Amino acid sequence: MGMDILHANTLEFLHSKILVVDDMESNVRLLSVVLKKYYPNIMTASNGVEAIKIATQTPPDIILLDLMMPDMDGIEVCLELKKNPTTAQIPVIFLSAIGETKQIVAGFEAGAVDYLVKPYQATELLARVKTHLLMQHLQNRLQDLNSEKDSFLGMVAHDLRGPLSIITGYAELLLFQKNIDAQKRESYLQSILSQTHRMSEMMKNLLDINAIENGKLNLDVKRHSLKEIIASSIEHQKGYALMKKQVIQQEMPEEEVFIETDRNRFLQIVENLVSNAVKYSPPGKTVWIRLKNTAENLRLEIQDEGPGLNEEDKKHLFQKFARLSTKTTAGEPSIGLGLSIVKKLVDTMGGKIWCETELGKGCLFVLSFGRNS
Ligand SMILES: Nc1ncnc2c1ncn2[C@@H]1O[C@H](COP(=O)(O)OP(=O)(O)OP(=O)(O)O)[C@@H](O)[C@H]1O
Ligand SMILES: [Mg+2]
Repeated sequence: MGMDILHANTLEFLHSKILVVDDMESNVRLLSVVLKKYYPNIMTASNGVEAIKIATQTPPDIILLDLMMPDMDGIEVCLELKKNPTTAQIPVIFLSAIGETKQIVAGFEAGAVDYLVKPYQATELLARVKTHLLMQHLQNRLQDLNSEKDSFLGMVAHDLRGPLSIITGYAELLLFQKNIDAQKRESYLQSILSQTHRMSEMMKNLLDINAIENGKLNLDVKRHSLKEIIASSIEHQKGYALMKKQVIQQEMPEEEVFIETDRNRFLQIVENLVSNAVKYSPPGKTVWIRLKNTAENLRLEIQDEGPGLNEEDKKHLFQKFARLSTKTTAGEPSIGLGLSIVKKLVDTMGGKIWCETELGKGCLFVLSFGRNS
């Protein structure tokens, strides 16, 4: 039974490379036979120099290292391995004979993670190897997560700097410039306001992606006027469009259209789509918002005259941190979260979203909600 437990979680480490180092041929053979059942990739060395050479050229995932060897002993080998960045992270398990307590302590000081006393118990040997492979694996994974987090924070910091410097700039103008006329003053304040709005939108997306990924998204569903929600989102985005001399055109049905939805979340969906249309289109273009109310469904279209997307970009459009080949056209920030949040929200609401686009022909984003959803 012990063996079965060992085997169960060993499968994912099947490809782990193990280096066995011992000057006694019979020892190497014995260890290899036991290990090979679970780990087919075994390399062997019969002395320290050879071991270091192999470890440097083909870094193994774990090293079983004999303590007492002629010429270069296990401690020296271990110290050498820990000095070299290529081999420093590889866990080393010492192999020792009974009564070598002093050397075992020295082994830990040299950077070993564990030791095994001869004669070996197969189960103990396998259990220790597995434990250290698992620990190494977890450590690597943590390191990956950590650098993912670092690059994410770096990106956020970079993107918040844009609006922040605009705010600082206008605030300084207001503070230090004498005799600013009322119209200028108002336009400076407008810019400050719209940049703070942009920053809070970014923060909201960042916090949301966390909540959504942790399954903590609660929708507060009520009956709302869809035309009112659309009007509010346009109101919020109008400032940016104006700065780029773009026009946002609405094509709404005559009648009132009601929808059962979470107002803020719906607003967020439309604002993300409109903000993208404005961000990725060059100055002077038009963005259309059309609402089509049919017997089967509610269809909301956001169409732009921007660069459109190529086939490769289309595949990644709704993925997290997808920053594709299209770039913002007036230095606007871009984290690559907006559409991944939109997609998750639309899915949760039971709707559909897709993008009809061709390179050079703009994007048409379509949101569709069935009558019963
Ligand atoms: N209307 C559009 N026209 C062209 N490219 C677009 C359009 N909308 C999105 N994209 C491309 O898709 C990518 C992902 O969009 P998404 O909204 O998820 O992120 P973002 O706009 O970069 O950042 P943010 O998190 O601030 O929304 C963008 O970086 C852009 O390359
Ligand atoms: Mg966006």
